Parts: sequence; C-alpha cells; structure tokens
Amino acid sequence: MNIGIIGTGGIATTAHIPQYIAAGANIVAVMNRTRARGEAAARQFGIERVYETVEEMLQNESLDAVSVCTPNALHKDQVLAALAAGCHVLCEKPPGISANEASEMREAAERAKRTLHYGFHYRHRADTVLLKRMIEAGELGQIYAATAVALRRRGIPGWGVFTDKELQGGGALLDHGVHMLDLALYLMGYPKPIDVMGHIGQYLGTRPGVGLMGTWDAETFSVEDTARAMVKFENGASLMFDGSFMANVGPRDTMSVELRGTEGGATLFPLHLHTEAHGALFDQTPAHLEHVDPYAVQIQAFLEACRHEPTYEQADQAVILHSIIDRIYEQA
Ligand SMILES: NC(=O)c1ccc[n+]([C@@H]2O[C@H](COP(=O)([O-])OP(=O)(O)OC[C@H]3O[C@@H](n4cnc5c(N)ncnc54)[C@H](O)[C@@H]3O)[C@@H](O)[C@H]2O)c1
Repeated sequence: MNIGIIGTGGIATTAHIPQYIAAGANIVAVMNRTRARGEAAARQFGIERVYETVEEMLQNESLDAVSVCTPNALHKDQVLAALAAGCHVLCEKPPGISANEASEMREAAERAKRTLHYGFHYRHRADTVLLKRMIEAGELGQIYAATAVALRRRGIPGWGVFTDKELQGGGALLDHGVHMLDLALYLMGYPKPIDVMGHIGQYLGTRPGVGLMGTWDAETFSVEDTARAMVKFENGASLMFDGSFMANVGPRDTMSVELRGTEGGATLFPLHLHTEAHGALFDQTPAHLEHVDPYAVQIQAFLEACRHEPTYEQADQAVILHSIIDRIYEQA
C-alpha cells in the first residue's frame, strides 16, 4: 500500500512512520507545513517526496491511505480532503474538535467508501484486548458503572500547540482525557448517552509553575487544565470522568478505567479482575501477558481494515464521544 503522512511531528515520527515501515507498507510521501521538518522526517526514514500542502500531496501522489498527525483543529479538513481523494484515513486522536466535525467525517467516509480509523492506541494494549474479549464473553455481566481517570500532577506539554485552544480544541479533556473516556466507552460497548453533567476549568495552567513535561507559556494558556463529568446512558449505566493536565494530587500520574458489572469488575491499568464465587471474593491479575506495542497493532489493524469492505464503527463512535465532550464544554 502507498501511504502518505500529513504532519511529521512527534506522533508521526515515533509511532506512525516506524510502524508503517515495520508492517511493510510503502510510505511514498510526507507533508508538513514547515518544509524543513518534513524533510528531516523524510531523511530519517528514507521517504522520497516532501510536500508543504495536503492538496499538493494528494494531487501528485497515488496514495491508498494517509495518516493525519497534525494539531486537532486541522484534522477534519485534512481527513475530508484525503477521503475525497479516495484515501483510507487513520487520523490521530481526538477525531476532531466537535460532534459536528465527527459527523462530517463519518458521512464523508461512507460517501467515499473508505476506512476511517482514529488513533486511540490504548484500545490496542494487550491488557485492553484481553479485557474486551472477557467482556464480550459475558464475564463481567452487565456493566452498569465506569470511571475513567486521566490525571497528571504537573503535565502540561511544553512543546507543540497543546495549550492553544484554537489549534488543539482543548486540553485535559479533549486532548489528554479523551484517551480514557474513549476507552471506557469502548469497553462498555459505546452506549447511547442521555445526560451529561460537566465541569471545566483553568486553575493552575494560567500561572507559572513546576513543569514535569516541559515549560509552557502561562500567559497564552487557553485550554482547560481540569475536566470532570458524569454521564448517564440509555441502558441505565453511568460513567464518571476525572481529568487534569495539572492538579495538586498524589505522587503518580494516573491513566485508568474501572468497570463495574453484575458478574465482575475490572480495572485498567494494569488489569485486575474482581469477582465473587462460592462465597468468596476474588481479585485476579494475569500471570503473563505477551507484550505488544499498541501503535504497531493500531497500524496493522488499520492496514488490514483497508483491505476489506469498510465499516464505520469507529467513525460512529467518534460522533458519540464528541457529543459527550461538546456537552461538557457547553457547561463550562
Ligand atoms: N496517540 C497518542 O497518544 C498521541 C500522542 C501525541 C499526540 N497525539 C496527537 O497527534 C497529533 C499531533 O500531535 P504531535 O504530538 O505529533 O504534535 P507535534 O507538535 O509534535 O506535531 C504536529 C505537526 O503538525 C505540523 N503542523 C502544525 N500546524 C500545521 C498546519 N497548519 N498544517 C499542517 N501541519 C501543521 C507541525 O509542523 C508538526 O510537524 C495531535 O492530534 C495529537 O493529539 C496523539
């Protein structure tokens, strides 16, 4: 397959490009707004052609698929352009910056009859895959409660445009917390939300402080550093979300999902299972799990999907995900 890369920053050069190469796909061109950065990536990975605009790349190359690895507010237009040019698309998370954008991309994928996947790599971790299999086999029973946590103590990224609302669309929720929110929803089977209560705030990011992920500019910080929410679903389940870029909390950053079902409960990460049997309570952990690189599995799954009739499951899920996020922001 002939692949093009849109945006040659951190995630493209550490995950997408190396994993396409590892999977045997042929990256024929990269595009980056600043040519020097595109050329550096092309040199590093032996890619032949570099473009400065998406249009130029799509017109001049015969591409089967592209990865979109640019700031979040740019995803939608680039995804639409790539689909219209007949490409399958793997777009980094979050899908876009609103439910309207997610809907547009979903419709465009169906119109073009092309695969549209999003870069939620936590779905592809070995422990997640195992838990998903157990849930589908009914081992947790009916999942009626979930908690998704994405807490950083001092984790405002000091590079890129992660603190720029215009380009990134959001912070603790849309950019960082979205990973765990998506994961909880995915494991719950993406039930239909019927009510959302949200709380968004800027408390610490707008003043200088300790930066464990680099130094950011407090004066231009325009995204949320705090996001909390409660979601109720049509099937009777509920989900609590707690996210931060920067919070006065205990020693470790947390990325976790907890699920409570009628037959068992589970927590990630790492994977623990909680059940009752024969009058006793059990806590279980897998004794051995093969290590897999979730980015490698994500790329393999995308390439495999491109070889078949497209399904629009991930594109549909993105619309639900963004509808919840929209409601949380609306209540800020
Ligand atoms: N899956 C993950 O865990 C994960 C991790 C990091 C980033 N991401 C996502 O990947 C995307 C890119 O993030 P990153 O960390 O690689 O950021 P980055 O800042 O390292 O790279 C972004 C790239 O986009 C380019 N760019 C900026 N403005 C542009 C424009 N107007 N047109 C075209 N290109 C432009 C920049 O030159 C840069 O090369 C974001 O959507 C982010 O949320 C996902």
